[in-house]
Amino acid sequence: MLLVPERRLVVGRLDGVICGSAQLSRAPRNNEAQAMAGTVTGAFVAPWARGHGIGRRIVTEIEQLARELGLLVLNLDLRDTQRAAIHLYETLGYRRWGSHPLYALVEGEFVPGHYYYKRLDEPGA
Ligand SMILES: CC(C)(COP(=O)(O)OP(=O)(O)OC[C@H]1O[C@@H](n2cnc3c(N)ncnc32)[C@H](O)[C@@H]1OP(=O)(O)O)[C@@H](O)C(=O)NCCC(=O)NCCS
Repeated sequence: MLLVPERRLVVGRLDGVICGSAQLSRAPRNNEAQAMAGTVTGAFVAPWARGHGIGRRIVTEIEQLARELGLLVLNLDLRDTQRAAIHLYETLGYRRWGSHPLYALVEGEFVPGHYYYKRLDEPGA
């Protein structure tokens, strides 16, 4: 993953031990119209390290990195059952613009999903 130029990896540490990460993906170079947008994927903190603010720090670091790369918009999508992540992103100003009722299939049951974006160039973003 580190060899893919359109991807960046941010890791979080607790007491020096890597316990979480997230990725920032950019559009391929031939997609000029979406060169201003990035996608946040794979945000994850190990269960033993949750609740210490590491997830929030990782996402704000991803946002800082995106700004440094000149991005104006971040996109992401979440399963409806990812309540901590939904709370985290909504309190960081991500706006839900749509939902997909058949987003994922978990143990034979469909789970809805939600799509979010955040403008990085708005005051206070
Ligand atoms: C989402 C996740 C990355 C957050 O990591 P974390 O290090 O525990 O996050 P933080 O400690 O920064 O807490 C973030 C917020 O979530 C809240 N939270 C934690 N568990 C929650 C729950 N079950 N329901 C609602 N909110 C919850 C915390 O209270 C905190 O909010 P606050 O700052 O307003 O108090 C982690 O829970 C995780 O890895 N989940 C599984 C993977 C996942 O859902 N990834 C999402 C993208 S693919």
